[in-house]
Amino acid sequence: MVIKLKYSLEIRNLAVDVDGQHVLKDVNLMIEKGETHVLLGPNGSGKTTLLLSILGLSRYKVVRGEIIFKGRNIVDLPTDERVKMGIGIAFQNPPIIRGISLNTMLNVCMGKKTTEITDDAVKLAKELNFSEDFLTRDVNYGFSGGEIKRSEIMQLIAQQPDFIMFDEPDSGVDIENMELIGKIIGKLLERDLIPSRRKKMGLIITHLATILDYINADRAHVMLKGKIACSGYPKEILDGIRKNGYEKCIRTCQEQ
Ligand SMILES: Nc1ncnc2c1ncn2[C@@H]1O[C@H](COP(=O)(O)OP(=O)(O)OP(=O)(O)O)[C@@H](O)[C@H]1O
Ligand SMILES: [Mg+2]
Repeated sequence: MVIKLKYSLEIRNLAVDVDGQHVLKDVNLMIEKGETHVLLGPNGSGKTTLLLSILGLSRYKVVRGEIIFKGRNIVDLPTDERVKMGIGIAFQNPPIIRGISLNTMLNVCMGKKTTEITDDAVKLAKELNFSEDFLTRDVNYGFSGGEIKRSEIMQLIAQQPDFIMFDEPDSGVDIENMELIGKIIGKLLERDLIPSRRKKMGLIITHLATILDYINADRAHVMLKGKIACSGYPKEILDGIRKNGYEKCIRTCQEQ
């Protein structure tokens, strides 16, 4: 059902069950065209569940609410349709895909029907600090933790989704590659100075927040026990969590 033609992501009263567990309870979130938001929260609070529900993986059952993307409620659409509409993700724990080389995956993401190593794939590999022979390896098979994170981002650059979700892109990444990843994500979500030309939207889960040194985030949300308990300016929210912990930061935020 078409609700309104608007280039944004809006989540209304979303409740999601995973294998019979009520994980998300009443999530509301609005990301406007060109904005990047950050999702914070303690382990097990439901952050990954929210991203995978937006992606539409079948284990994540929407029991109530709406996910409106580009003016359309997508809760009944399969994942491949959502990806075609422009939703992309860098997973927290990406799957190993045996029999598919990273090169083939990049070609698929770029819409190229070839298994050959293309100049574009080589260029991307170099940009992400990979040697060319890395492209011949099966996706994520035997990759180190940091290599997996970089490979996920490489696939997103090839895919160029309009709305990009990053689930802890900085976990397990060394200092030099953190800077590389931070700058590349920043570029991927780059905003145009003219607001009407801004297009991509981003949602980034992070615990470390170092990555935010490279990304101009508009808003931060703190998730607690399956709900977004607090929202505000990223720097203020992060300072609050660092000083007082999640629960007190949320209480202070809710009192304001
Ligand atoms: N299949 C399942 N059965 C039961 N509980 C589940 C299932 N899948 C997820 N959960 C629970 O849902 C809660 C939210 O998990 P989720 O992965 O969304 O947390 P998270 O906020 O991303 O945490 P982290 O920061 O550790 O990545 C957790 O308590 C988790 O154990
Ligand atoms: Mg998670």
